Amino acid sequence: MNAPTTKALVVGGVRLADGTRTDLAIADGRFVEVADAPADAERIDADGLLALPGLVDLHTHLREPGREDAETVGSGTRAAARGGYTAVFAMPNLTPTTDTAEAAQYVAELGRRDGSCEVVPIGAVTKGRQGAELAELGLMAAQGVRVFSDDGSCVHDSLIMRRALTYLKPYDGVVAQHAQDPRLAGPGACCHESEISGRLGLPGWPTVAESTIIARDVQLAEFTGGRYHACHLSTAESVDVIRWAKARGIAVTAEVTPHHLLLDTPHVETYDTTFKVNPPLRTSEHIEALREGLADGTIDVVGTDHAPHAVQDKDHPFDIALPGMLGLEQALGVVMEVMVDSGRLDWAGLVDRMSSAPARIGRLAHQGRPIAVGEPAHLVLVDPSRRATVDRQRSASRSRNNPYHGRELPDPVELTVWAGRVTYHR
Ligand code: DOR
Ligand code: ZN
Repeated sequence: MNAPTTKALVVGGVRLADGTRTDLAIADGRFVEVADAPADAERIDADGLLALPGLVDLHTHLREPGREDAETVGSGTRAAARGGYTAVFAMPNLTPTTDTAEAAQYVAELGRRDGSCEVVPIGAVTKGRQGAELAELGLMAAQGVRVFSDDGSCVHDSLIMRRALTYLKPYDGVVAQHAQDPRLAGPGACCHESEISGRLGLPGWPTVAESTIIARDVQLAEFTGGRYHACHLSTAESVDVIRWAKARGIAVTAEVTPHHLLLDTPHVETYDTTFKVNPPLRTSEHIEALREGLADGTIDVVGTDHAPHAVQDKDHPFDIALPGMLGLEQALGVVMEVMVDSGRLDWAGLVDRMSSAPARIGRLAHQGRPIAVGEPAHLVLVDPSRRATVDRQRSASRSRNNPYHGRELPDPVELTVWAGRVTYHR
């Protein structure tokens, strides 16, 4: 759906994140002075709506190439546009794995062909994400790849992590770690290790399987001087480790997902595999620590970990079903509900965590920019008062594993503009 609406736009009466009221004009993909907008510009009355920079997701699973039955670049980025996103970083757990320069180029090309937002390939850290041998990091970096991850699997070998951090340093690359000690939480682990996992008879996934890996990694980041990002934090201990590392001045950043900010372990009591996710949903003390970490900046970004799965991969006993849940369409609503409406984060803070910081960590210079004359026109118009009950059937995604189905949430996105093109209009 790349049919560009390159027509000029004037959006009247918006409020910016800092409270200022203004009119916006867009021509040739950039914000321009309203006086300079062409006479035939399309006019949109946005009285009372909030204008935010387009959101940027550092953690998206698009499933193409390989599992187009679950998601394609077209469907996944349409979901992104509906969620207010203008750029997504595509995780490399595809078939084939994005572990070569050619594979990365192919994902970027699919984005240019079918994308309703910018698609930025993430390169694998190791060949086939097997954890044994470094992938073509230099060749991928030479092509502009800056984020590297074996997500879905942990880079568990300390020497491989050391080498990846060292090797990527001159390229300004970042290692985005899926922190899961495979000995403490093996492939079968699927439920927060607790009274609930015991009662349900589900293999436990203890919090230390995450936090001990992050503790090791931040010390390797300090030792090598490499840049490290901890994906989808789920535990209070992990937040403490990141806080400690930042206080020491180590170059680390961290992420939390919308689902780990909102949903707790009891959701798995029905054995509904929609709620199976890796790392697993945790208890309220952990959720509270994650919210606090996001508010005080210990956690830099909200990454969706949008993980579409086909029905036949979810329709299994809980311990066998694939882990993952959708996130792109509801992320902004969840963060509003949990962080903004509760007064923990203001709009400027939300813009930082969902647009500027992810763009900065991914070294995507032209995204996550302020709304100002001369800047690229990436924009989301938000109605902060609108709410709706989530219906998994009404989704741009090809998959239906939506953990918010039936829940009332803010439903704020009215219009998304990517590089001057309207990619979503309610
Ligand atoms: O729940 C998850 N699903 N966690 C991951 O790390 C990978 C993802 C997927 O690719 O399905
Ligand atoms: Zn992961």
